[in-house]
Amino acid sequence: MDASFLLLLLALFSITLVTQGHAGGYLGKEKVTNLHFFFHDSISGDHPTSVLVARPKGTIVKYGNLLPFGTVYAIDDPLTEGPDLNSKVLGHAQGLYVSAGQDKRLLVLVLDFGFTSGEFNGSSLSVFSRNPVLETDRELAVVGGRGKFRLAGGFAELHTHSFNTSAGIAVVEYNITVFHYE
Ligand SMILES: *[C@@H]1O[C@H](CO)[C@@H](O)[C@H](O)[C@H]1NC(C)=O
Ligand SMILES: *[C@@H]1O[C@H](CO)[C@@H](O)[C@H](O)[C@H]1NC(C)=O
Ligand SMILES: *[C@@H]1O[C@H](CO)[C@@H](O)[C@H](O)[C@H]1NC(C)=O
Repeated sequence: MDASFLLLLLALFSITLVTQGHAGGYLGKEKVTNLHFFFHDSISGDHPTSVLVARPKGTIVKYGNLLPFGTVYAIDDPLTEGPDLNSKVLGHAQGLYVSAGQDKRLLVLVLDFGFTSGEFNGSSLSVFSRNPVLETDRELAVVGGRGKFRLAGGFAELHTHSFNTSAGIAVVEYNITVFHYE
């Protein structure tokens, strides 16, 4: 055996070790979890959960004053067990949404869904997705997570439960299917 062959063997062996180390050290078996909750977003009233951060210069009103193209909101929205805002709080969705449609009301979300109760208390899911809010049913991409949701991937199915456009209050039902490790 010459030296380069030995080096190659050594390199292969250490790659195997590193791979096993990752799987064994951090991750368990893959599993699928379904989550169900209601998301409450309020852009007005005494305690808005969603605040305007920036809007475009000048007036660009193609589809009304609610969320015109170019506006950016920061949110901290409660996630509850039922459609009633007073039902049990399961966590909060925090982050940004950008109104990113020129001709139709469409948001792009960059959100962390952090859970504060039950099995996933302290863990969170990362959502980065377009959200055509005017369609009653839509789907978002779940691109990652923290805690028990490390390396998570999946999707969220959304259904608008109610949308009071004059008050700017939306209640959205979420069913999330997420693949992650135990
Ligand atoms: C969630 O975890 C935090 C921090 O560990 C703890 O203080 C809190 O009591 C937990 N909440 C529930 C509902 O288990
Ligand atoms: C969520 O799943 C439940 C149970 O399967 C179903 O009744 C409900 O319509 C679903 N909602 C959404 C938004 O997918
Ligand atoms: C929308 O919200 C406003 C202000 O809170 C309220 O007066 C109105 O009744 C609500 N509309 C519906 C359809 O719930």
